[in-house]
Amino acid sequence: MALNKARLDRFLAQYCQISRKDVRLMLAKNRVKINGVLAHDIDEIIDTFSHITLDGQVIQANSAHYIMLNKPVGVVSATQDSQHKTVIDLLEQPFKNELHIVGRLDLNTSGLVLLTNDSRWSERLTLPEHKVSKRYIVSLKNKLHTEYISAFAEGMYFGFEDITTKPAKLTIINDYQAEVELIEGRYHQIKRMFGRFQNAVTALHRASIGNLPLDSELSAGQSRILTSVEVNNIGK
Ligand code: URA
Repeated sequence: MALNKARLDRFLAQYCQISRKDVRLMLAKNRVKINGVLAHDIDEIIDTFSHITLDGQVIQANSAHYIMLNKPVGVVSATQDSQHKTVIDLLEQPFKNELHIVGRLDLNTSGLVLLTNDSRWSERLTLPEHKVSKRYIVSLKNKLHTEYISAFAEGMYFGFEDITTKPAKLTIINDYQAEVELIEGRYHQIKRMFGRFQNAVTALHRASIGNLPLDSELSAGQSRILTSVEVNNIGK
């Protein structure tokens, strides 16, 4: 398997245990196809999911998988855990053990969790510079105040990590509920931000990531495969 991204000549030289000069000859003789198209360029960049044939024989064929899960409270966002059920345990897909989690949720947080084996896709969704927002519905112990809105927008200093949180959008739904949009995912971020006002979070639910809302047809614990439109549009 080509690791994430690789030059075609490097991949073939390693796979066939031949020199890069011999790879050139191989391409000149029209022996290699990538995604069904004859390969001529030794510099062509391939990745884990490029379909590659040599003399008509498949030498790499990996499928990318993208899953959405409605995570229930009490399930851990990890691939293995000795105490709790994991998000992987909830899946039925045969390839579930190849997947990693795109942005974890705390044990007592519910809602949208994405899983994939495509690390470039998950990186694009999780790195703050890509500004893909995550929207949460938060229930609180005490009444909300309008002053929270500017405090979330300005960012809060977290001494432990020595960072100031990126601007977050808080919208008050009612006295005890708010919607919060973040573009990053610091440890217990939402609970710590409301903690500044001595206001405890009593329930937290992730409703969407980028343009992708949690499918309302999925009850807690259920999952489904994303459509290719959802995969491509999520971060736009
Ligand atoms: N913020 C939290 O405090 N917990 C989560 O699970 C997600 C965001």
